Amino acid sequence: MAQRRFLVTAALPYSNGRLHVGHIAGAYLPADTYVRYLRASGADVRFICGSDDNGVAALKSARDQNRTVEQLTAHYNQSQSKDFAALDIEFDIFGGTHQPDYVETHERFAQEFFLRVYEKGLFTKRTTKQLYDEEAKQFLPDRFVQGTCPHCASTHAFGDQCEDCGQPVEQQSLLKPISVMTGTTPVLRETIHWYLRLDQLQGRLAKWLEQKKDPQRCGATWRPIVLNQSLGRIESEGLPERAMTRDLTWGVPVPLDDPDAKGKSLYVWFDAPIGYVSFTAALCERQGGGAADYDRWWKHPDCKVVHFIGEDNIVFHAITWPAVMLATHDSDSLQGEAGEYQLPHNVVANSFLNIKFPGKDEEKISKSRGTAVWIEDYCKTFDPDPLRYYLTAVAPESARTTFDIDDFIARNNGELLNAFGNFFNRTLTFAHKYFEGRVPTTGTRDAVDDEQLAACRTAADEAAAHFEQCHFKLALSTVMGLARSANAYFDATKPFRTRKTDMNACGRAINVCLQTARTLTTIVAPVLPGSAEKCAEMLRLDDAWRTWSSATDELATGHELGEPVILIKKLDATELFSE
Ligand code: MF3
Ligand code: ZN
Repeated sequence: MAQRRFLVTAALPYSNGRLHVGHIAGAYLPADTYVRYLRASGADVRFICGSDDNGVAALKSARDQNRTVEQLTAHYNQSQSKDFAALDIEFDIFGGTHQPDYVETHERFAQEFFLRVYEKGLFTKRTTKQLYDEEAKQFLPDRFVQGTCPHCASTHAFGDQCEDCGQPVEQQSLLKPISVMTGTTPVLRETIHWYLRLDQLQGRLAKWLEQKKDPQRCGATWRPIVLNQSLGRIESEGLPERAMTRDLTWGVPVPLDDPDAKGKSLYVWFDAPIGYVSFTAALCERQGGGAADYDRWWKHPDCKVVHFIGEDNIVFHAITWPAVMLATHDSDSLQGEAGEYQLPHNVVANSFLNIKFPGKDEEKISKSRGTAVWIEDYCKTFDPDPLRYYLTAVAPESARTTFDIDDFIARNNGELLNAFGNFFNRTLTFAHKYFEGRVPTTGTRDAVDDEQLAACRTAADEAAAHFEQCHFKLALSTVMGLARSANAYFDATKPFRTRKTDMNACGRAINVCLQTARTLTTIVAPVLPGSAEKCAEMLRLDDAWRTWSSATDELATGHELGEPVILIKKLDATELFSE
């Protein structure tokens, strides 16, 4: 069978701030987990990310912090890249839409996309009224206007989206708008922009999305939240045209030979997803294939593109971005013919994470209110795996969930340490103490032994099926179920007792425990890669343990084991969260 190929992306984080646990739970951890699983399953994968540097968010923060936007975005591009590495989230490339090493390629791709859509007649040039700051002498795109949300009456609404209810906001529907640049009340003025004819594309988009309702037909399990916010929206409201340009000089210049395009940039949500493509090209070049090699990942029907995002990105990844790709096609194939950009195989979105500090009520994560756990802080004290474990166990896969700090500590010290860490510890220690650090002989297995080994095979198959469908929570609970059954087996077979009465029975039990540990090593790796490495060292496995198909390979009798090490440490909340 031909090797499966996947191009996996994680939403490009805005390079105007630090990363917190909510970001990680939303897109990056599930994406990394998926990539690790796919690689174990034998697939050829490229994992793409980088910073989203353009647009108003960066400009606004640079202004607030008295830095140039170049300095600001370079700073956060690096600090975020470090945060990811500290959590063992390993991209093949971490680019940046305006970082010196990437900006040239990125602009070329973004402008090519724009021109292609333009030539296809799918932009309308329109004169409209927009809010203008008379003091700053500047139009106020998107987040440059703040006001009261027309949906929920929060005062934390901006001209693109409300911070509190997450709903998209039309600038002109904001109540009591003020300019974030000067604090003055803006006025409406005429300006010219290019609008994407989403109305022309919506028929094809709807048909394409319709297929995604049926996993049999499209080969992927789309989450209901993604279909509701895309197909549901097309069906209920239809798609209005959307401006794809802005009155801004920070961004990709509008590539038109038209005096009206002067001083304008592409809308950041037009260029950002193109970052996935331009960084792929940069990666291909770095790997010696040449930049043109990117089309092997983007324009071949045998490569599946999977986007991981947070809930607030759904519209852009399941409507706007596929629409832009469709607009570049010559064929009317829904997915794209060979040689055309392939629409995503899946768009995997998580909801948001609330936070609960000890002794306080659950609340939304907010940078301005200081209610966040920053990755930088977390990594100063803790290993990545406890966080990876917890964020997978409570992943907001279908609705908001909560990062509860007491619960995080309790689950680490209870579930993870008890079920998983202790099982390895007691098994390895026992083998060293009574079997000279070697795998004891099997002897003739009886029913409980066979059952335990069958549980290993079932867990490996079930976990694989869950990972395939991006059901990470279920995959983890399958893995933990095996760890728990292993402890139950250890308790039931009582090797600590049989070693005095029946050394054969004792050896048989420890053998089966070691086989179970062998399986756990491989199948826990996508979620807990650091711990899996330690497990592999303890069992002295050769590199084959990294492939999924090896998960139930048996350790040979007499195989020499490594030294037991502490897998999971007991954690104490006060080490980190002094609040
Ligand atoms: N910067 C956006 C956010 O953090 C995500 C952009 S994803 C991309 O919400 F595909 F458009 F790059
Ligand atoms: Zn709101």
